[in-house]
Amino acid sequence: MKLTVDGTDHEVDVEADMPLLWVLRDELGITGPKYGCGIAQCGACTVHMDGVAVRSCQIPASAADGAEVTTIEGLGQPDALHAVQAAWIEHQVAQCGYCQSGQIMQAASLLELNPDPSDEEIDRVMAGNLCRCGTYIRIRAAIHTAAAKMQGA
Ligand code: FES
Ligand code: FES
Repeated sequence: MKLTVDGTDHEVDVEADMPLLWVLRDELGITGPKYGCGIAQCGACTVHMDGVAVRSCQIPASAADGAEVTTIEGLGQPDALHAVQAAWIEHQVAQCGYCQSGQIMQAASLLELNPDPSDEEIDRVMAGNLCRCGTYIRIRAAIHTAAAKMQGA
């Protein structure tokens, strides 16, 4: 399969049913997306595929052939963080950190679709991203901060 990940083109020889998560982690060494449940229930593996937030544990390689994928590692750069990443640091959102790349990718997708979400809209869209450390209040605050920054406030 061929795919573009974080702006770099790749060609990998994998089984058609290998989940995109394992293509990223095992074949390409991109370990930002995490394995949590493997059944699309936790959100730890969230990446963007052709601009849409997806659970990479449930995307077979065959479905990702030709796709443009963005992971947490390509969302921003160390000297040019995405507004969501910067807000995450400002609010010190992470605790253990395991769920956080998925949270950030889901939040970035949310703000693309809804630049100024309410608390209820945040909670609804983020409900599929679980955090065993319970960072939900800081996640919500960071999304509001990122939204304001992205709107130039
Ligand atoms: S590992 Fe993909 S949703 Fe949990
Ligand atoms: S920060 Fe630990 S699971 Fe979310």
